[in-house]
Amino acid sequence: VLTDDIYYRLVYGDAAFESVAAVAPELDGRWVMINGVSKTYAMTGWRVGWLVSTPAVTKAAANLQSHLTSNVNNVSQRAALAGLTGPQDRVEAMREAFDWRRRMMVKTLDGLANVECPEPLGAFYAFPDLSWYAFKVGGDIALTNLLLDRAGVAVVPGEAFGAPGCARLSYALGDAQLEEGLERMAKALGELAG
Ligand SMILES: Cc1ncc(COP(=O)(O)O)c(C=O)c1O
Repeated sequence: VLTDDIYYRLVYGDAAFESVAAVAPELDGRWVMINGVSKTYAMTGWRVGWLVSTPAVTKAAANLQSHLTSNVNNVSQRAALAGLTGPQDRVEAMREAFDWRRRMMVKTLDGLANVECPEPLGAFYAFPDLSWYAFKVGGDIALTNLLLDRAGVAVVPGEAFGAPGCARLSYALGDAQLEEGLERMAKALGELAG
């Protein structure tokens, strides 16, 4: 079992992260857990991640990786170490900031006519169902293009996730920007509704 635990520190409400090794001891080491610094320490772009598995798997992965990417540069390694071993209070502060943005975004989207937005329990994305609007303009790719052109808001079409009619919105940006983006999006959708 391969798990991508990159958002393990970004969970909300009653949700709790559990690693596959802890919840399924019967798997007896037949797991590969992937993690990294990108989300927890807002270090996207530093390109530092790792996997945890049995010695045989980690050795094979290291052999493969050494021929694919050579290594992780020293600066990134030092920066990742500073994140992992330094004070962790900023991680919780960021989680709380994301939690506020999450609730604000979901409330705003869910309050729009013909939109339903389930509450995400982890990561930093909302995934509203915009199919009423997508249907009007000929699909969710057309709708995301329209939002980009008319509102200047970039969202990822749900089709990319096997959920046509939906869209993925990131709330990993400043509160003011987020509020403005949502306002513009609401206006553009409102115009579509007529
Ligand atoms: C689910 C998931 N896993 C892993 C990553 C890895 O990020 P990076 O390539 O920056 O380490 C990302 C980042 O977008 C992600 O969303």
